[in-house]
Amino acid sequence: MPTAHGTIWHRKIPKTTVIKYAVIGNPIQHSKSPQIHNAFAHQEGVALEYTRMLSEPEDFIAHVNAFHASGGLGLNVTVPFKIAAYQNCSLLDDYAQAAQAVNTISFNSDGDWFGANTDGIGLLQDLTHNLRLELQQQSILILGAGGSARGILLPLLRQHPQQITIANRTLAKAELLAEQFATSGNVRACAYEQLDSMPYDLVINATSASLSQDLPPIPDCIVSTHSFCYDLAYSDQATVFMQWASRLGVAGCSDGIGMLIEQAAESYAIWRGYRPDTEQIFKLLRP
Ligand code: ATR
Repeated sequence: MPTAHGTIWHRKIPKTTVIKYAVIGNPIQHSKSPQIHNAFAHQEGVALEYTRMLSEPEDFIAHVNAFHASGGLGLNVTVPFKIAAYQNCSLLDDYAQAAQAVNTISFNSDGDWFGANTDGIGLLQDLTHNLRLELQQQSILILGAGGSARGILLPLLRQHPQQITIANRTLAKAELLAEQFATSGNVRACAYEQLDSMPYDLVINATSASLSQDLPPIPDCIVSTHSFCYDLAYSDQATVFMQWASRLGVAGCSDGIGMLIEQAAESYAIWRGYRPDTEQIFKLLRP
């Protein structure tokens, strides 16, 4: 299956070579990526080695180059290195360019880094394929204007929603994002207290508030029983944002586990030209 990124850049691998990929970040011990990618490899019918790499900020570039020198074929990049990866790639796909962040690195034979960002396309796949939501002509509210919000804007705008509103505690950051994406669609910015009482079709929590069990200061009137609420964060229990949405009787809500799985599948497709079936992985992570 072709990837959402169009170009697939992967090398022919001699049968005797160990197929090596890894995820680099700090912290990294919690990462579910090895479990997900090993399951993808099982589906593809190949044996690959997918490891976790812990790095200090000052060692990031050296670690990536050493991994390539040792035969590594590609890397997933997670917090806090997505921006450093973006800054050090020789080539970028358009989602990485728009996000100003890279979560997937492939190497060419000279060791140049090719950077892609599959986070937004992973979210889109979860929303439209797994959750069967229609986005065209829908009103979308994004809470937060940090790196996560930036990463999902271009793929969402390409679905031609009626409008995307970005609400953030720091209004200037939301305004800057809206300005930067204005050529890609109908996008506007506001502060939480400026949110109108019109309910949105889809509300996406792209703040980091869930990580500290917090809820952004949002009024109840932004959702109705027709709204869907999606938290980019994921957890074994419903996040605070999902609890808020359920209490208000929304049509549905989800955490970001599907986005995690789908972004991994997109990375795998870029590296290997094989798009895994993700349904089995949901069962693996949420039995
Ligand atoms: P990430 O890469 O996860 O997006 P980030 O770039 O640090 O991380 O951005 C975090 C986002 O969550 C920001 O939009 C932040 O709001 P501010 O820009 O006003 O700081 C938002 N955020 C974090 N904690 C929040 C909270 N308790 N309530 C509302 N917004 C919060």
